[in-house]
Amino acid sequence: MNMVENHAIIYAENIVKSYETGVKALDDITLSILKGNVTVILGPSGSGKTTLLNILALLDKPNSGKVILDGRDVSSLEEREAAMIRNKMFGFVFQFFYLIPELSVEENIMIPLMIKHPNRPISEHREKVQRILKEFHLEHKLHSYPNNLSGGEKQRIGICRSLICDPEVVFADEPTGNLDRDSSLELISLIQSLNTEKGKTFVIATHNENFLKIATNVIYLSNGKIINRE
Ligand SMILES: Nc1ncnc2c1ncn2[C@@H]1O[C@H](COP(=O)(O)OP(=O)(O)OP(=O)(O)O)[C@@H](O)[C@H]1O
Ligand SMILES: [Mg+2]
Repeated sequence: MNMVENHAIIYAENIVKSYETGVKALDDITLSILKGNVTVILGPSGSGKTTLLNILALLDKPNSGKVILDGRDVSSLEEREAAMIRNKMFGFVFQFFYLIPELSVEENIMIPLMIKHPNRPISEHREKVQRILKEFHLEHKLHSYPNNLSGGEKQRIGICRSLICDPEVVFADEPTGNLDRDSSLELISLIQSLNTEKGKTFVIATHNENFLKIATNVIYLSNGKIINRE
């Protein structure tokens, strides 16, 4: 094992991904995601950001190459096992929020906890949700429904949901893609404080160059390859 691998929570080696259409979305990507870093993946539309994020987060599999998570090769896990790892170790934040409209804010945030600890009493989950909402100054939205929230509020609820199981890594795909400028800047500083104050590790795929201000590691993609951009 080399040094890079040692300090990496995720190490991806020689990742190639082609879709059935013949598009080569990723072409020999090797990178490390270091604990406590904010890794920002930048690149034009179609450069492979989402594909890369999904492979690092075990939502998709490469055609070839390896993904090492905490020293363990997870490149060819069964979906069931990958889902368990995602629930235990990862949090997810999405451009379109993906809150469930029929469920309240409390219930939306609680879902990953119920999956992780199905036998614990619901009162314990409730307390956790209330605590995190308070921390994000959203306690008054506990019983609201997603359709009655602003975009910025929805995304902060999305962040609460991503953090509720205390993940090792939070993956965010274009998290400011549906936010106005002020809400975007607010979200970026929220992510920064979660990183600097709580040591949370983030991997963020985005077009938004404002993320460069909080990045500790930047990966530029172009046509499925990592490029150097000074
Ligand atoms: N499910 C799919 N089937 C076939 N081709 C796909 C699929 N998903 C993505 N692609 C193609 O793979 C390439 C990389 O797409 P990807 O979604 O990873 O890019 P991206 O950098 O996230 O783009 P954007 O900034 O628009 O979100 C593109 O050429 C895209 O058309
Ligand atoms: Mg994308």
